[in-house]
Amino acid sequence: MDKIKIKGKKRLVGEVQISGAKNAALPILASALLCDGKSVFHNVPDLVDVRSILMLSEELGAKTEMKDGVVAIDSSGLNNHLAPYEIVRKMRASILVLGPLVARLGKACVSLPGGCAIGARPVNLHIEGLEKLGAEVHISHGYINACAKRLKGNEINFDTVTVTGTENLMMAAALAQGETILRNAAMEPEITALAEVLNLMGADISGAGTSEIVVNGVDKLNPVETEIIPDRIETGTFMIASAVTGGDVLIKKCRPDHLGEVISKVRDTGTFVETGKDWIRVKGVDEIKSIDIKTSPYPGFPTDMQAQFITLMSIAKGVSTIKETIFENRFIHVNELQRMGADIYLPSSNTAVVRGVKELAGAPVMASDLRASACLVLAGLAAENTTIVNRVYHLDRGYERMEDKLKSLGAHIERIK
Ligand code: EPZ
Repeated sequence: MDKIKIKGKKRLVGEVQISGAKNAALPILASALLCDGKSVFHNVPDLVDVRSILMLSEELGAKTEMKDGVVAIDSSGLNNHLAPYEIVRKMRASILVLGPLVARLGKACVSLPGGCAIGARPVNLHIEGLEKLGAEVHISHGYINACAKRLKGNEINFDTVTVTGTENLMMAAALAQGETILRNAAMEPEITALAEVLNLMGADISGAGTSEIVVNGVDKLNPVETEIIPDRIETGTFMIASAVTGGDVLIKKCRPDHLGEVISKVRDTGTFVETGKDWIRVKGVDEIKSIDIKTSPYPGFPTDMQAQFITLMSIAKGVSTIKETIFENRFIHVNELQRMGADIYLPSSNTAVVRGVKELAGAPVMASDLRASACLVLAGLAAENTTIVNRVYHLDRGYERMEDKLKSLGAHIERIK
């Protein structure tokens, strides 16, 4: 298993370009299954998760190719409705083929994704939504079996805001008969991006980006050529990288308008943040202020930035309280940060209290999930001496060439095969 070795306390200076958003690419690539023909997507990040969903699309009968960030998916030959456990267990977001398969083929047999390190990650809301649209769904032997001659529009109320649940049902409703209203829908930029692609395909969706989305079903969707939006979580991660090293980094090809709460909270720490239309400049300061954050669905502070923010607070002056309200077990990184000298305690399973220390000390640490691995890399950049981050396959799921980008900013970082 690859490791990443970092010699810390190097100021990051220079420019870095943000890649396409993983969490926009995955649902948008799945939406290509709704069309009879070849769609082309630009600015697709070369990630393990992206390759997984392309492999799954091939398994379902689509033809795919990926070269230099351009992905083509021709699903005119879609002829298999089985998404096997072997593929789904490696990448939970495979659940995103469920809606498209039922809408396009009238049936789907998709393995239950199962949980992961950060939580149980149930998909009950995806299933209940499909049933509301008239699908017959039953679970057997760990698989979701869904079928419907033709889905029928209906009103769906999500009792919990779910990002991929909203995406799955928006895709299913796009080809249903009649009108569907999604209430308490997720409002993340990736939802808006998916709706824009579906409308480009010929769907009739309004309200994406608000908590109420209206979908008027159509009979057919057509292939498109479009571009994936920049990754707001990668952007936030590089903002923290500059802040924790007292750096001066210009982050390019990003969308500051997707990062309102993150920019505001990073500014509250005293870190200098300047923004333009598609760039953010972050200059670290000597004395970082401790502030409290609470994760919540967009436009609130994103749970996917919680681990990275804890790294910043671990070397801030004062005490900060971090509340995680989305996932039940998303503080696994805390143990590893404590091994690097961070002073953090967990008064409850969803609260971390971080007392800033002067400096973190390099150590061998273990990544447990995608964003935890990012937070440990950031801690290694800030810490004195050497940090070895083990199990970096987690990192490769969601960050394109992270160590190359950090190296170009002056970090002493290398991958050990
Ligand atoms: C998406 O996961 C993202 N993944 C996650 O990013 C992100 O952390 C999460 O949204 C929250 O923003 C992708 O977009 C591929 P949810 P998703 O359904 O859709 C509960 C990363 O690091 N829930 O919004 O799986 C669930 O348990 C990843 O890039 C149900 O109870 O998350 C959780 O507590 C990690 N029943 C809450 O809702 C359901 O049917 C939010 O989950 C679905 C969800």
